[in-house]
Amino acid sequence: MLRLDGKVALITGLGQTTDEGWGIGAAIAMKLSQQGAIIFGGNRSLSSAERTKARIEKKGGKCEVQETNVTDSTSVKALVDSCMQRHGRIDILINNVGKSEPGGPAEMSEETWDQQVDLNLKSVYLTSHYVLPIMEKQETGGTVINVSSIAGLRYIGKPQVAYSATKAAIMQFTKATAVIYAGKGVRLNTVVPGLIYTPYTRELAKRYAPGGDEAAYMKTRDEQVPMGRMGDAWDVANATVFLASDEARYITGQELVVDGGITSSTGRV
Ligand SMILES: NC(=O)c1ccc[n+]([C@@H]2O[C@H](COP(=O)([O-])OP(=O)(O)OC[C@H]3O[C@@H](n4cnc5c(N)ncnc54)[C@H](OP(=O)(O)O)[C@@H]3O)[C@@H](O)[C@H]2O)c1
Repeated sequence: MLRLDGKVALITGLGQTTDEGWGIGAAIAMKLSQQGAIIFGGNRSLSSAERTKARIEKKGGKCEVQETNVTDSTSVKALVDSCMQRHGRIDILINNVGKSEPGGPAEMSEETWDQQVDLNLKSVYLTSHYVLPIMEKQETGGTVINVSSIAGLRYIGKPQVAYSATKAAIMQFTKATAVIYAGKGVRLNTVVPGLIYTPYTRELAKRYAPGGDEAAYMKTRDEQVPMGRMGDAWDVANATVFLASDEARYITGQELVVDGGITSSTGRV
């Protein structure tokens, strides 16, 4: 079940700045690798991508990484070209890069708005632009999984309007493109994480915890979830592996929400 032996997976944002814990991109790369996929990763900083590569190789997996800026067309094309030169195919594309900036439309600068749209949304267009024509030509097609957020479905307690808008747009980009490619052997789906405990969440706690009380910040996040706890990167990675696998061969244009029940609830804040 869920084997991905020999499949080539291109993934963005697989880097991690610490060996403590797992970011979502790094966990997805590790899980895909453990299922037999060969990983080719693009990340802003090479050093954090190399940390993930080392962790994957330590477990016997295959991973190569390249410095990439997902908002830059030339850089994304170079990543795709390198993967093709190395492996001659791309079976799985994971668009994981994304970040939230705080603010509603009145407070947010135009510059921040544009950066959010570029990082969270244009990045998904750019990789798709270069990879979909490759997948379409392959006899076995391909599959794309885009990483959104429940902030694209609901207001989740803090103003982050550009993040919410771009994460919602990813879902519709995926649906529309899935229909266009449904007859061409390429499936596209979105994985939609809720509140996830990652190294980045710990950074947020350091920055935003009222009175510097990081434990209380984490407790509040846990209590917002009907299951009583945040998810972790493996919860998102497991859902992603399923969508990437042949077991999901009849699923396209869908969102798989991984949120411990938040979006099914009327709220627990
Ligand atoms: N964490 C959560 O609670 C949560 C919840 C819902 C959805 N998500 C979504 O899940 C995804 C991953 O989140 P995460 O918390 O695991 O993030 P993360 O740990 O911050 O990882 C993001 C990765 O993207 C890389 N990156 C940033 N800008 C880039 C660029 N322009 N080009 C290439 N790479 C770039 C970073 O590189 P560096 O190493 O250089 O920093 C980092 O390795 C995001 O799309 C996020 O919106 C997260």
